[in-house]
Amino acid sequence: MPRDSGSDQPQKREHWASKAGFIMAAAGSAVGLGNVWKFPYMAGENGGGAFVMVYLPIVFTIGISILLAELIIGRAAQKDPVGSFRVLRGRAWPLVGFLGILAGFLILSFYSVVAGWTVAFAAKMATGMLNGQGADPAAVFGSFISSPMQPLLYACGFMVVAVVVVLGGIRRGIERANLVLMPLLFVILVALVGRSLTLPGAMEGFTFFVTPDFSKVTGATFTAALGQAFFSLSVGLGAMITYGSYLDHKQNIGRSASSVVGLDTVAALLAGLVLFPAVFAFGVDPGAGPGLAFVTLPSVFAQMPAGQIFGTLFFVLLSIAALTSAVSLMEPVVAYFMDQHGFGRTQIVIATGVAAFVLGIPSSLSMGIWSDATLFGMGFLDLIAFVTSSIMLPVGGLLIALFVGWVMGSRAIAELKGNGDTPPALARAWLFILRFVAPAAIAWILIKELIS
Ligand code: PHE
Repeated sequence: MPRDSGSDQPQKREHWASKAGFIMAAAGSAVGLGNVWKFPYMAGENGGGAFVMVYLPIVFTIGISILLAELIIGRAAQKDPVGSFRVLRGRAWPLVGFLGILAGFLILSFYSVVAGWTVAFAAKMATGMLNGQGADPAAVFGSFISSPMQPLLYACGFMVVAVVVVLGGIRRGIERANLVLMPLLFVILVALVGRSLTLPGAMEGFTFFVTPDFSKVTGATFTAALGQAFFSLSVGLGAMITYGSYLDHKQNIGRSASSVVGLDTVAALLAGLVLFPAVFAFGVDPGAGPGLAFVTLPSVFAQMPAGQIFGTLFFVLLSIAALTSAVSLMEPVVAYFMDQHGFGRTQIVIATGVAAFVLGIPSSLSMGIWSDATLFGMGFLDLIAFVTSSIMLPVGGLLIALFVGWVMGSRAIAELKGNGDTPPALARAWLFILRFVAPAAIAWILIKELIS
């Protein structure tokens, strides 16, 4: 095992080269499949605007508060998630870091499978396999994800690219990739919104997305919106603790957190503005579930002028979004083994990539030859996705809120105010949310989920 742990030489820790670089990296983590693939279909299944009306308040109270809490922990401790809790408090708290690292690793395993689908679909779109004469997107999607080998090859290719980025380290790898990819992502997204909103009949989809139908709001809407908020903001597992640990004390961290949440929300809303006008313009069902982006949308692109180009762009967009998120799922694991066990970056990045790919194999096969192997009625991929985003992230978020709210308390406020210009009322509201609102809301939703 290599030495040079660096754990007692904090001055050697790499830091983001610029504020913009950090914001792009954190936004890159947040903006992912969760925004472009999952958010629109969840909104589609939960009454469109009604879901949005529940989702947004959760994001701007609980979500942003926990994101900020994670950044504060990481910046204060300058360590990986486990090490951060150790430095700040010790006792049982580092377990929260372990739980998070495990969740990140599990998410990475299935995330790279779905990301592989998006890369494959970019290729299929570009080569006309999805919108040629008589092409049937549902059949293409079904036979692709259920075939044993092909999706694994794409998942492997995707993982290799993520590994290459993380191998480059913070500045030369993660920051540089995000500084290029995130602006590109927003350009593509805006171009697609333009295309979608100018389709004849687009208004109906727009209306569906912005008009809340409150009769569709049930307890389940809150559970779905909370899980989605955690997943979309990348909180509850220490990814933001890790990114925060590469910050120095010069930045106004509150403002950075707001930018990240703002960009994540804008990306999700723009993705909705791509999907729904297009889906309604061609009279297809917005409540198609996970197939919305892979089946419904390609059938729309097939009928649209220049659909092949816009369709390819859409899947390139999804692939970029997935890559910058996958990188942030890998980094906490890498940081943990580097900070706590003295591994070198190269070894541990490669080991993490290989291990996550291997764990992804049953997820991929659960869409096809292993689809009969279910637990609680869910296949492997669905089960891991459920356990992580509906249980592990909310539990992690709850504990992080309690830690910063009660254990760090005034120290957290001091960290936040470090650079002077955070309004005291805002800082107090933040602490109040962390102490009472977030724990109560998360606990309530978790309990309801368990007894239902
Ligand atoms: N936020 C990412 C998305 O929306 C997923 C993610 C979750 C990334 C947790 C990192 C950590 O797709």
